Amino acid sequence: MHFDTVIIGAGAAGMMCAAHAGGRVLLVDHARAPGEKIRISGGGRCNFTNLHCDPRAFLSQNPHFAKSALARYTQWDFIDLVNRSGIAWHEKTLGQLFCDHSAKDIVAMLRRLMQDAGVDLHLQTSVTQFAKLPQGFALTLSRDGKETDVTARNAVLATGGKSIPKMGATGYAYDIAAKFDIPVTDTRPALVPFTFAEGRFAPLAGVAAPARVTANATSFKEALLFTHRGLSGPAVLQASSYWREGQPVTVDLSPDADLFDTLRLRRQQRGRRNLTTELSTLLPARLVEHLATSMDLSGNLGDRSDASLRQLAEALQGWQLHPSGTEGYRTAEVTLGGIDTDALNSATMAVKSVPGLYIIGEAVDVTGWLGGYNFQWAWSSGMAAARAL
Ligand code: FDA
Repeated sequence: MHFDTVIIGAGAAGMMCAAHAGGRVLLVDHARAPGEKIRISGGGRCNFTNLHCDPRAFLSQNPHFAKSALARYTQWDFIDLVNRSGIAWHEKTLGQLFCDHSAKDIVAMLRRLMQDAGVDLHLQTSVTQFAKLPQGFALTLSRDGKETDVTARNAVLATGGKSIPKMGATGYAYDIAAKFDIPVTDTRPALVPFTFAEGRFAPLAGVAAPARVTANATSFKEALLFTHRGLSGPAVLQASSYWREGQPVTVDLSPDADLFDTLRLRRQQRGRRNLTTELSTLLPARLVEHLATSMDLSGNLGDRSDASLRQLAEALQGWQLHPSGTEGYRTAEVTLGGIDTDALNSATMAVKSVPGLYIIGEAVDVTGWLGGYNFQWAWSSGMAAARAL
C-alpha cells in the first residue's frame, strides 16, 4: 500500500496534522483509541488552549523556535474550529479554555475532520520497521501478529513524550531520531509534583493555599496543594518545569500582600489575640499548626516586636524547601526537552537532514506552561507540518 503521508501517533498533534494534510494519509497508533490524553485532560473537560498564548509561555533550548508555528496557527484559529464544531466552552481562569461538556467533544471533532478528509486510521498497530528509501519511507506495521508493508512519500512522527507510560507513551520519536542522527536534548518530567523525604507534608495532605512558588528565578502565583508525597497544585507544577535537582524552591504564602504590613496592622487592631489564631485567618489552620512545630508562633500578637514580626513575615514569604525529587514520568503532564529544534525547520517541522520526515507535538523540545499551552503547541505544530505536506 502506498500513501502520500504516514503519521505515527494519533494524539493531539497527529490527528490535527492528519485532518489537514490532504492527499492519502495513514495514521497509525498502538493504542486502542486515538487522543487518549485529550480524553483525560483538564479533569475530563480538556483545557484545549489559552487566550494568552504567547511564545514566552514555552520552554525550549531555542526560545524563538515556537514563534513561527504559533503565529501561523493561533489560539484564535483553534477557537474558531471549536466554535464551528458547535462545542461550547468557557474560560476557567488565567485565559484557560475548557469544554463545557466533555473532552470527548474535542476527540470527536478531530475524528470527524479526519473522516471528512478520508484519513485511514489504524489503531492497535505498531511500527516494527521504519526505513528511508531514496524517495520516501518504507514501514512494516504489525497488528495482532499480522504484518503489512507500506510506503509513503512523507512520514510524520507524532508519538509525544515519555509522560505517563501507562497511557501508551514511549520514546519512539527519540529512537527514530537516534537512527537518523537527529539530535535530542536531555529529557525530564515536567509539570510534575515535588516529593520530599520521609513524607514531610503527609499530615497536611489535602490542604491548599494560594502561593507564589519560585524555582530557578521563575515564579508562578497560583494554588499550592500539600499531598501525601509532597507538593502539588498549579503553582508547583509550573515551577517544576524550571527546577533542577538539588535546588531549593521558595514558597511565598502571602502572594498578594506584604505579610509584615498585615501583621503590624492586625497587632494594632487586635493585639490581644493569639498569634496562631490570627495567622489562621490568613493561612489554612492546619498549615499554621504544622508551622508551629518548627517555628516559634507562641504568645499574643501584641507581644511581638516589629523585628519579630518582620522575621516571621520573611520566613512565611520566603519559605525555602528542598524537594528530594519529583513524581517522575508516572504523573508528569509533559516531557521537557526532546528533538533538538536546531534539526527542524520552524515553519514546517521538517527534519532538515532527512527529506520528507517531520516531527511535531510534545516529541519536540518545546514545552508549554500549564493552562492549555501544550495542546496549542500540538495544534500549531501539527498544522505547520500539514500545510507543508
Ligand atoms: P500525545 O501524547 O497526545 O499522543 C501521542 C500518541 O502517540 C499517543 O496516542 C500514543 O498512543 C502514540 N504512540 C506513542 N508511542 C507510539 C508507538 N511507539 N507506536 C505507535 N503509537 C505510539 N495539555 C494542555 O494543554 N491542557 C490540558 O488540559 C492538559 N491536561 C493533561 C492531563 C494529563 C493527565 C496529561 C498526561 C497531559 C495533559 N496535557 C494537557 C498535556 C497534553 O496532553 C500533551 O502535551 C499533548 O497530548 C501532546 O500531544 P502529542 O500529540 O504530541 O502527544
